[in-house]
Amino acid sequence: MIVRLLTKFTYITLSLSFLLSGCNQTKDIKAAVVSARKEASDIGITILNKGGSAFDAMIATDLALTVCFPNAGNISGGGFLVYRTASGEVGSLDYREKAPLNAFEKMYLDENGDVIPEKSTLGGLAVGVPGTVAGLAEIHSKFGTLPWEDLVKPAIDLAINGYIVTEKQERSFRNKKDDFIRINGENTFYAQDFKAGDTVKNIALAETLKRISKYGVKGFYEGPVAESLVNRVRQAGGIITHEDLIKYKPVWRKPLNFKYKNLNIFSMGPPSSGGVCLGQILKMIEPYNIGQYYHNSEKAIQLIVEAERRSYSDRSKHLGDPDFSKVHYNQLISNKYLNNRMNSFSFDLASQSKDIQAGKIPWTESEETTHYSILDQEGNAIAVTTTLNGSYGSKVFVEDGGYFLNNEMDDFSIKPGFANMFGLIGSEVNSIKPEKRMLSSMTPTIVMKDNKLYMILGTPGGSTIITSVLQTILNVYEFGMDIQSAINAPRFHHQWLPEKIEFENGVFDEVSMKKLQEKGYDIKQDYIRVIGRVDAILLSKNGVITTGADPRGDDKASHLYD
Ligand code: GLY
Repeated sequence: MIVRLLTKFTYITLSLSFLLSGCNQTKDIKAAVVSARKEASDIGITILNKGGSAFDAMIATDLALTVCFPNAGNISGGGFLVYRTASGEVGSLDYREKAPLNAFEKMYLDENGDVIPEKSTLGGLAVGVPGTVAGLAEIHSKFGTLPWEDLVKPAIDLAINGYIVTEKQERSFRNKKDDFIRINGENTFYAQDFKAGDTVKNIALAETLKRISKYGVKGFYEGPVAESLVNRVRQAGGIITHEDLIKYKPVWRKPLNFKYKNLNIFSMGPPSSGGVCLGQILKMIEPYNIGQYYHNSEKAIQLIVEAERRSYSDRSKHLGDPDFSKVHYNQLISNKYLNNRMNSFSFDLASQSKDIQAGKIPWTESEETTHYSILDQEGNAIAVTTTLNGSYGSKVFVEDGGYFLNNEMDDFSIKPGFANMFGLIGSEVNSIKPEKRMLSSMTPTIVMKDNKLYMILGTPGGSTIITSVLQTILNVYEFGMDIQSAINAPRFHHQWLPEKIEFENGVFDEVSMKKLQEKGYDIKQDYIRVIGRVDAILLSKNGVITTGADPRGDDKASHLYD
């Protein structure tokens, strides 16, 4: 009882702080864009206000993030869209980067078979063939209602007029300055000491965007923009060719779909692990009715951690690009398989990751990212997660184009058993092959409840993406929080290996931490990596729209009102 009261008290405190922090839910919201930056969310809303759809707003928002959020917003990375139209059609677009044609399995190993430090994360060899512009153009050709030029123009204007540096951004530029200089030389654009409040005008990027505006896909993958990209990658030690760029094509895929109680969830399937792992974890905890324990209590944490342990172990063994290996996702999220996986779980004692190997399946042949959620006035819902992988990707800056290139190649398993920059371990199914897509954790997700649109959400955070999306859904659905409180609530993360559970620093109660340690859990509370920055939209059963933007970043919800 005391526990329950405490939970309610925490919830009320969080909700109050949300109200005081300027929530805009007093007027009726009819459409919303929630993204990593105010400028980008506002641009999305402007497009909706002009009569554009969620898909139009997506294109404008995405390109605006390229300008004002250069650590993750991009024209030179890749991403995934999960959508549900007002008429109920669901789908997903995969515009994930690909390995270049000249890539090969051991490209990051020396003659002794050892991993060469930083080769897959920094510099030209880390760059995968970008998919973003092809993805946006594909979305426009299927769903666009406003002219392409009108959707690119706000980003061009933002690049010319400039964006204002935030305090978090100043820190981010300062932290990465040495790498920028190391890879690009002292005169590189982002080695300037931009301070909070400064205006950054990126004229080179405006010129690149003008070509994309005028020539569409060809404006990026052919002509002078392609020429300067290929040259810059080559100078920086990479292998991307014009043929790689011309051959790049996004792929429409069926979203991963599963049920949890009366929720019907659509998320990204392979080559992302996001949907499969989210489905596995939710379905593993479903029989235990987690809502009976209070939020972030020892038992709730145990349940989530043990489901995560089992799911991330499956991720390492069974998931990769479905165009290269058969991925048995239906079996991986089947109740029978998952109930078996939880047979060894007990509330009495921690499982050990060394004892949890990927499940035996009978058919065995085989930071920086950003997310935004959009709901338009017609009811079209889109969830998009896009990435350069690391913050500012490979740090290779195309000086005359005004943008950074991704380091997505590190999302491959560059050597079996070797941990990537997120500590994730992979196997043959995610090995490097020409034109293969590297396994992702991005989890853009749309949740239906009782056949009505309920939630649109996603987050950056590398391997922590899946668990952040999971905890946000549970916080709303099982623990009764409003969407902003659900996002604000402290998070933790476990990914099978390493053995540790990582907790956001200083916000979990010591009693639960001690009890978990007594049961054999390895606890890390000085976690410095961000555990997600969730941007989400929630609809009540009566259709009332509320939004949540993660205060861990500069994220912002913009609205259109009745
Ligand atoms: N680059 C992060 C991810 O795709 O999971």
